[in-house]
This record gives sequence, structure tokens and C-alpha cells, in this order.
Amino acid sequence: MTQVSATAPQPWWQNGIIYQIYPLTFADANGDGIGDLQGITQRLDYLNDGNPNSETALGIDAIWLSPINTSPMVDNGYDVSDYTDICPTFGTLEDFDELLAQAHHRGIKIILDLVVSHSSDQHPWFVESASNRDNPRADWYLWQDPMEGREYPNNWRSYFGGTGWTYSEAREQFYFHTFHANQPDFNWQNPEVRAAIDQVIRFWLDRGVDGFRLDASSAYSKDIYFRDNPMKYGASDPNDYHSYNHLYDKNLPENHRIIEEIRATLDEYDNRLLIGETFIDSSLYESIGFYGITNNELHLPFNFEFPFSPWYPGYLQRQVEKTERLTPPSAWPNYFLDNHDIPRHLSRWIECSLCVDSEAIAKAAAALLLTVRGTPILYYGQELGMVDHTEIPPQKLQDRAVIKVDAGEDAPLPRDGARTPMQWDGSPQAGFSFGQDVEPWLPVHPNYPELNVKAALTDEQSIFNFYRQLIQVRRQSPALRWGKWRPLIHYPHEHLVYLREAEDEMVLVAINFNYELPLTLDVPVRRENWQVLLSTCHATGKVIDLAEALQSFEVSILRQI
Ligand code: GLC
Repeated sequence: MTQVSATAPQPWWQNGIIYQIYPLTFADANGDGIGDLQGITQRLDYLNDGNPNSETALGIDAIWLSPINTSPMVDNGYDVSDYTDICPTFGTLEDFDELLAQAHHRGIKIILDLVVSHSSDQHPWFVESASNRDNPRADWYLWQDPMEGREYPNNWRSYFGGTGWTYSEAREQFYFHTFHANQPDFNWQNPEVRAAIDQVIRFWLDRGVDGFRLDASSAYSKDIYFRDNPMKYGASDPNDYHSYNHLYDKNLPENHRIIEEIRATLDEYDNRLLIGETFIDSSLYESIGFYGITNNELHLPFNFEFPFSPWYPGYLQRQVEKTERLTPPSAWPNYFLDNHDIPRHLSRWIECSLCVDSEAIAKAAAALLLTVRGTPILYYGQELGMVDHTEIPPQKLQDRAVIKVDAGEDAPLPRDGARTPMQWDGSPQAGFSFGQDVEPWLPVHPNYPELNVKAALTDEQSIFNFYRQLIQVRRQSPALRWGKWRPLIHYPHEHLVYLREAEDEMVLVAINFNYELPLTLDVPVRRENWQVLLSTCHATGKVIDLAEALQSFEVSILRQI
């Protein structure tokens, strides 16, 4: 295993838990049915009220806000038309300052989504760039001449389906977009683009934000000769994005230089965090490279191993082992289960497991996420056990970037199911608009009368309370925060059992995936004197013997005494 110090004090983002908010559907303060910044501010106490032993707050340390900049909302904010302002849908810069101040007051950091692989086509920079071939910003985006005998300048595809090239009449040229045609990619080779984005970064850092999540950050660089991507061995469909090895439109060496520059700017400020989405068509092996040779790129390149895993202990353990082995010394892993682009984990995993007890899966998954070595990133509502809304009427879908593209069968499915309103209480619309019964931006999941924050707070056994306690246990345990991770079963197929070891503390985590049978633990550690830190079957503080059987679906976190 990678050698890491089990004692060194860690920066806040290694100790802390990050919580992703999708602002359109978290909380609506102004009663227009769309989430906003004031709504988030009013709900901060639910996330962290400043009391480390709170009975009502989840206890997270940082919020990552999906984009809040001015946007025509073709991709729901991932298409920015003004990088230094707040979209009126969400409020004003003053609202943002207030959110930041209120969050900081409670010890919550704020991370912004920085969407600079592309802008919106409504951004004045693109409007100018597209107006003719010799304006001052003519070279800020990726323009190519039509080519004799070819429909498009090359074979690069859009991740959202279809060709990645769109023709501009004014320039009589094509521009490239990794995503939707309304999301033109920047030309990061151009130093002026780099300088302009550096100004954006400084604008927000000066305002006090605690870091960024870089959107699509492995797609900044492109081949300067615009060479065709080679097809994957055995692939036959030239229209499918995934048929190609993305050798020339992603992950080029220059991409690392760009991220190093962004990191250097962050490093001029104290304690700021850089996370990046580096997975697009790449694996953990490539993402790991984005820590940088001397840890001078991303602090946390997103680790997509859990989202891409089935609910099977051997597979999940393999992902942790892989992460442990690949993460460079002195770099730090991260894990998450859900985000705004993929189906929620309970929806994914219920389908592929034989168990239909979603509460049991939710608690087991929570325990896994919060007890492996690395920063956990939660997605709003996951702590309640929210699942995808799979029956949103087609006319109510909002993922326009995906559904409106004329892309044929290779287009991804709309991502709305995992983006429905946060379920606050059992009142109409789940309390999304603070008691006002206005139709929300996306329909509320029909299970909200039973599954909501208010109900969860009063149910001692709720998934929320399990997360809350788990977060408190983790905060108080050096072993869980930074101890070494060591599996105790080599090829698990029914249960995961691993240790977290710090200098003065040893914690054992046991998760039984078997939904019918108890299991006897046969692991090479002392059996007696394990004290329960948190368990779905035993009272906290009880001292148990590992010879006792693990109940079906038991989750137990134990400290050796
Ligand atoms: C990232 C975002 C996704 C968005 C895309 C284009 O993958 O997570 O939501 O559609 O980038 O910006």
C-alpha cells in the first residue's frame, strides 16, 4: 500500500466532508419555484449549525455549489455567459456575499464550480469571436476552416452526441464544442484566454471563496493540428463518442501545464482547494496524473470508482485497493457515490442487488463512503436516501443540453431524475419553497411525504441520523480521518472488513452485504475488546467480541480498546 503518514495534521479538505448542492433544486426562498442563494443561506443550519455535537445538523465542512454564474441555462448553468456575476435566477452578488459570510460563520467553506473548458455561446467573448475572422477575440475559441471532401474539420464528437463541430455563417468556419453546440470550447493555447480566466479565478478568491471544482478539466487542451481521433480497437460505430480513443481532444500534456497554472494562482492564497473533473473518457489511471508530478495540480481529481461499481463487496474493495495503490505518496484520495450527472446510488444499486431494503443499502453505502481513507463528497439528499425520480413527464424534463440535441441513439439520457427538489418536509412540494405551494422547476419525487428532512430528524433510525452520527464519529477519530486503510479479507464476496490505523487508534469497519444470513467474522486480528463507535445492530459504547456473528446487513464501526 502507499505509505502515508498516519499522524500528520491535515489541511481542512483532508479532514472535512464536502457536500454538493445543485442550486436549482435545493431551496427556493423567493417563491418562484427555482432554488436560489437566499434559500441555501436559510438552510445552512441544517448542513452545519456550528455545534460539533448537533442533534439536528448533518455536520458537513464545505459546500460545492454547482454553477451559479450568469447563464442562459441550456446546460443548467454549465454554460456561463458572465463569469463574474451571479445568475439572476439565483440572486445577486450581495446574496452570494451573504451566503459566504453565513457559511463561514458556521465553519462551512464554499467551493464554486468553475466552468472554463467552454463558455456559453451567449458570452460576449464568443459573440465577438464569432462575429468575423479578425476581431480581437477571433482566436479565443477553436475555429477551423471547412475542408474539401469532408463534412467536418475532423472526426471529433460531442460528448452529448453528434459531431463536435458547428458552422458559423459569419466566419464561414466551424467551432468545436466538447458538449452542446451552445457550449463552445475555449482555445487554451491562447495566452489571452489564460489571462482572462486567471482574472476570473482571482475575482472569486479575492471575494473569499475557498476553492473551485473545475468542470471538464481534462478537456482544456486540444491537438494544435486537429488530428482525427483513432477509433478504439473493435469499435464499429463512428458516430459514438465512446468509439474513439480521445487522443487529440482530451488529456493532452498541455492540460497539465494549464492546471499547474491555475493551482499556482490558488497557492498565492491560503488554504484554497482545487478539485477537478478529469474522468471524461478516462480512467483512474489517467485521473491520478492530475495530482501533478510534485502534487502541483489538483488537490482532488474526482475518483469515479464507486459510481462506476456494482454493489458488490469484491468490486468495491478492489476500487479502494486500486485507489490506495495508485494515489501518489503525499497526495490524498477522494470518494463519492452520487453527483448531478449520474443516477443516485440507491437507484443504481437497488437494481443490481438482490436486496430491496434501500435503507440498509443506504447505511452500508454511507459507512463505506465515510470510513475509507479520503475526502468524502456527498450529493444533496443522499443523506436522506433520496432516489431518482424515474417518472418525470417528458414535457417537464429540464436537461435541455441532452434532450434537445439532434444526436441520435448515442446521446446520453436526461439527468433530471437525480436533480429533483430537496425534500424538506411533508407539506406540498416538500417544503421546497418554504411553505409556498408553487410548482418547482422539476417535479418533487412522489416519496416526499415519508422521505424528508423533517421526518428524518424525528426518526432515530433514519438514514439522515446515521449519516449525522457517522460524521461525528469520523470527526472524533484520527484513524478514520487519516489512518492507513488495510483490508482484512482478500477476496470478499459477502462482507467488507477493513482496518483504519493511526498511531494511537485502531478502528475496524465491518459491512455485511448478505441480506439474509448472519456471518461469522474470520479475520486476523484480536477478537476481544472492540468498542462500538456506531452500528446498525449494537448500542454505541458496547464492548463486543468479533466472534459474535455479523447480522444480515449489519454495519459496525468498532474501536479497539
Ligand atoms: C460536466 C458537468 C455536466 C455538464 C458538462 C458540461 O461534466 O458535470 O453537468 O453538462 O460538464 O459542462
